[in-house]
Amino acid sequence: MEERNKTLGEFIIEKQEEFMYSSGELSRLINSIRLAAKVVNYKVNKAGLVDIVGAFGEQNVQGEDQQKLDVYANETFMQTLINREIVCGIASEENDDFITIKGKDGLHNNKYVVLMDPLDGSSNIDVNVSVGTIFSVFRRVTPVGTPVTKEDFLQPGVNQVAAGYVIYGTSTMLVYTTGHGVNGFTLNPAIGTFYLSHPNMQFPKDGHIYSINEGNYVHFPQGVKDYIKYCQTEEGDRPYTSRYIGSLVSDIHRNMIKGGIYIYPTSSKSPKGKLRLLYECNPMAFIAEQAGGKASDGFNRIMEIQPTELHQRVPFFCGSENMVDKANEFMKKYQ
Ligand code: AHG
Ligand code: MN
Ligand code: MN
Repeated sequence: MEERNKTLGEFIIEKQEEFMYSSGELSRLINSIRLAAKVVNYKVNKAGLVDIVGAFGEQNVQGEDQQKLDVYANETFMQTLINREIVCGIASEENDDFITIKGKDGLHNNKYVVLMDPLDGSSNIDVNVSVGTIFSVFRRVTPVGTPVTKEDFLQPGVNQVAAGYVIYGTSTMLVYTTGHGVNGFTLNPAIGTFYLSHPNMQFPKDGHIYSINEGNYVHFPQGVKDYIKYCQTEEGDRPYTSRYIGSLVSDIHRNMIKGGIYIYPTSSKSPKGKLRLLYECNPMAFIAEQAGGKASDGFNRIMEIQPTELHQRVPFFCGSENMVDKANEFMKKYQ
């Protein structure tokens, strides 16, 4: 069976012409992410066997405790991209500032910057629940040949040329888009090859799942409280089912397959929301939209927000189109 499925390697080569500026650079970038994903997958699967669970003992710039696997995943993705000399800069959740990378010729001649959340849902590692990696790719805006600047990273999501995630779940998948739909590849761990298992993924227009950390209910804005009540009210196809893993990647992946909405709103505890615009919300929004779904901050389209900071937080409403529209409607009442 499997032999008939296309591999990710074959797929990348086949799709190269679809890229806007087809020099092969973006193909090589995706290839590097594929490789790093396999390395991290190998390590994640060993959690519990070798000493990689638990805290690393330091905090990142956002004051979050780093887990050992956060640090490992960050180093793996960073080094894989740095060694291949195919991007001009990387920004990561785990690094205070972006880093600048020279190309093969020792000059700043590469075109793409990558922003990433190397390990998403890291509080789930120690309890054997799925985690992920999220990445977002932009073409630089500063001239090729010069070192990258912050401007290259602070671009609105609509400028993304590629985005994707890896989910280290019951099976490991790499799901990505280059703006021509969304395709999902499942890793056969025995031979280390990703196969195209989910071609042209589609977010169902409607769904029956809502995903939100309801423990924070008392701190939510009134629009969100009302929407939750709407989800729980018996009428038509409601009440909906509540499902919340606590790994953004896993929650959205499930909702994209089954139909649903994911919400991480502002709260009185985190007035700007928790999730980061540049390496969590933008890439997930790009994927959602490419699959026919939607993503907002409760009012506006996520991908049209002009970022001002690398680690900027934003409220996030992402999922089936009709569900996000409905949630936005509730938010609007209290704008
Ligand atoms: P990270 O592990 O990269 O810091 O991200 C965790 C995020 C996201 O994956 C998840 O949906 C959310 O935090 C969960 O937050 P709560 O525990 O506050 O619900
Ligand atoms: Mn995250
Ligand atoms: Mn993370």
